[in-house]
Amino acid sequence: MASPLRTAWFNDSFMPLAEVRISPLDRAFLFGDAVYEVIPVYAGQAFLLDPHLDRLDRSLQELHIRNPYRRGEWIHIITGLIEQNGGGNLSVYLQVSRGADTGRDHGFPPDGVQPTVFGMVSTMAEPHPDQLGMRAITLPDQRWSRCDIKSTALLANLLARQAARGAGAGEAILLRDGHLTEGSASSVIIVERGALIRRPDGPEVLPGTTTAAVFAAAAKVGVACRDEMISEQRLRQADEIWIAAATRGITPVLELDGRKIGDGRPGPVWRKVAAAFEAMKPHGTTH
Ligand SMILES: Cc1ncc(COP(=O)(O)O)c(C=O)c1O
Repeated sequence: MASPLRTAWFNDSFMPLAEVRISPLDRAFLFGDAVYEVIPVYAGQAFLLDPHLDRLDRSLQELHIRNPYRRGEWIHIITGLIEQNGGGNLSVYLQVSRGADTGRDHGFPPDGVQPTVFGMVSTMAEPHPDQLGMRAITLPDQRWSRCDIKSTALLANLLARQAARGAGAGEAILLRDGHLTEGSASSVIIVERGALIRRPDGPEVLPGTTTAAVFAAAAKVGVACRDEMISEQRLRQADEIWIAAATRGITPVLELDGRKIGDGRPGPVWRKVAAAFEAMKPHGTTH
C-alpha cells in the first residue's frame, strides 16, 4: 500500500501532513460533500495534468462548488507538493470540499463559505514485471447514477473493493442492467478481435484519464478503438480485459470470477499498447 509523504497542502499553505486539522463541521467529513483527483507523477513530472484538472473543474461545477484556484495556482500547488516530497514516482491526491458550515444542514451553506482544499502525496510502486496481471471478480454496481462526478462519497466502491480483496482478487468489475460499467476504482477496457472497446461516457461511469491516453497510444500504433456498450456476455468472452487507472496504469485481468481470460497470460494487444502507453510517460521510469 502506498504511504503518504510528509508535506501536504492545506487551504493556503504547504505544511506537514501530521499538522493538518480539519473541522468536524466540514461537509466532506459529515456528508462526503467533496470531490477529488489522483494525479500520477513519473520522474518528478505530473502526467496527464490538464485532463485531471479539467475533470476536477467539471466535478466541482456539477456539484456547484466554487473552484477555489485558477489553473496556474493548481499547478503551483502540485509542483510544490512534488518538489517538497522529493520527486520520483508519486501520486498526488487533491480534494476540495464545499467547506465547513456553522452546523449540520443538508442544504448548501450560504455563499461565501470557503471550500476546504487538501493535497497529499504518496509513493507510487512500480509493479514487478512478473507480477503484471490480476484476478478480478464481477459484482452488481450498487453506486448512484452520477458516477461521472469524482466524489469522495465512495461507500459502494469501498464495499466492492473489499469484496474483491476477500475473494483474493485485485479489482471488482461492476455490472449494471446486464452491462459493464467500470471497476470499483478503475476503468475497464476489453479487446475483441484486436480492437479496444470501452463503455461510452455517461452518468454511470467516470471518464478515465488513463483510458483516454491509452486510446491515444493505441491509435498511434494502429490499434482500433471504439466506444460501445459491453454486455456481461461480451465481457466474459473478451480476448483480453484490462483495468486502467492513474495509479495502476493498464493491468491485464488474467482471471475473471475464477475463469481464465484468453490463455491466462497478458495478451499480445496489451503488450503492444502498454509499450506505446509507457512511451508517453515522462522519462526515467520502467513499467
Ligand atoms: C470509479 C473509477 N473509475 C475510473 C477510474 C479511472 O480514472 P483515471 O484513469 O482518471 O484514474 C477511477 C480512478 O481511479 C475510478 O475510481
